[in-house]
Amino acid sequence: MELVEVLFTQEQVEEKIDKIAEQINKDFEGSDDIIVIGVLKGGVYFMTELTKRITLPIAIDFISASSYGDGTVSSGNVLITKEPDTYIEGKDVIIVEDIIDTGRTLSCLFEKLKQRNPKSLTLCTLLNKPDRRIPDATVEPDYNGFEIPDLFVVGYGLDYAQKYRNLPYIGVLKFDK
Ligand code: IMP
Ligand code: MG
Repeated sequence: MELVEVLFTQEQVEEKIDKIAEQINKDFEGSDDIIVIGVLKGGVYFMTELTKRITLPIAIDFISASSYGDGTVSSGNVLITKEPDTYIEGKDVIIVEDIIDTGRTLSCLFEKLKQRNPKSLTLCTLLNKPDRRIPDATVEPDYNGFEIPDLFVVGYGLDYAQKYRNLPYIGVLKFDK
């Protein structure tokens, strides 16, 4: 069995989301063609909380990619399983993801989306594990909630074998021996 230890409380996470939204509201002021694209499934909880705090006119969409099996180690394969259906050419696109780990998933998504010629492509993540980045990663977050060491975290959208996404806080997964 596994145990979950609280790393960031719901209050800490939501305070951080307030700050990121405030910054986005400032940085994108005047833009009326913003599309916020959430990365399914992990980015959904962060995306809904974030977009509720954005006071600019935005559209939302989703993209889905999978790079993990049911374990805690990346398979190294990135598969795009759902493309956004919104027309993004000439628009300010903000990608919202739960975590950037090795950077494989987001580097691949960025390459794909760039081919559609958006005006800008911005990356917003709730968590960042910089120590885990592979040298081939081509993207870094423009907005990031928390920088964490190499821990396996769950909650607020993040899963372990599809469980724990609905925890309202972020916890570290510990495995019982
Ligand atoms: P990357 O391609 O290695 O950057 O992995 C990104 C994806 O792996 C994220 O979108 C998550 O779905 C998953 N992931 C990476 N680290 C964790 C973690 O600590 N907990 C849960 N999922 C994670
Ligand atoms: Mg994910």
